[in-house]
Amino acid sequence: MVRPGHLVNRSVDGAPSGEPPRTAADLVVFIGLPASGKTTFYRREFASTHAHVSKDLMRNVRTRGRRQAKMVDDMLSKGISVVVDNTNVTRADRAALVAAATSHRARVVAYVFTGSPAQCLARNKQRRGKAQVSAAAILAGAKRFQPLTADEGFDAVYRVTIGSEGDFEVVRASLPASF
Ligand SMILES: Nc1ncnc2c1ncn2[C@@H]1O[C@H](COP(=O)(O)OP(=O)(O)O)[C@@H](O)[C@H]1O
Ligand SMILES: [Mg+2]
Repeated sequence: MVRPGHLVNRSVDGAPSGEPPRTAADLVVFIGLPASGKTTFYRREFASTHAHVSKDLMRNVRTRGRRQAKMVDDMLSKGISVVVDNTNVTRADRAALVAAATSHRARVVAYVFTGSPAQCLARNKQRRGKAQVSAAAILAGAKRFQPLTADEGFDAVYRVTIGSEGDFEVVRASLPASF
């Protein structure tokens, strides 16, 4: 697969003059329907370099949004890079994460998983037991989905597609882009 540039080149970004320099940590925001391949992609590409924050891992937490925000904040304040592995289908979901990254001067990168509702429904059917989500959750996600736009403040955007061989194809998208 194409290796995302920021995984290879992890040098600290230069900041515009007068502003404090960026930290070395980055915040990676996954955007995609349930069963679009996000967690599999995290395990393959980020597990050794980035902490994993996912509401799916907070089964017994009532205020998962708040827990997530605190985890992201804690990691970034320690200079640890993080992947937020949730659907993040709304602008509001993403705005909160971009704000967190900005407050820590971390680079913030989006990975948009392009699986259609039909593809996600089919992949979800192949899951077993608790891993399977309801079809309604996928359709509801598709309905709530607000395409990513250039004004949301991401430093870079990548588009992730699952190829016919099960490989992940990652392509850097030039903004302004709408997905
Ligand atoms: N690259 C891939 N090729 C084939 N199947 C995949 C691939 N990535 C994920 N899957 C399958 O699709 C389903 C959903 O993947 P998952 O990573 O759990 O999605 P998400 O985290 O977005 O809900 C799983 O059954 C998984 O095995
Ligand atoms: Mg997942």
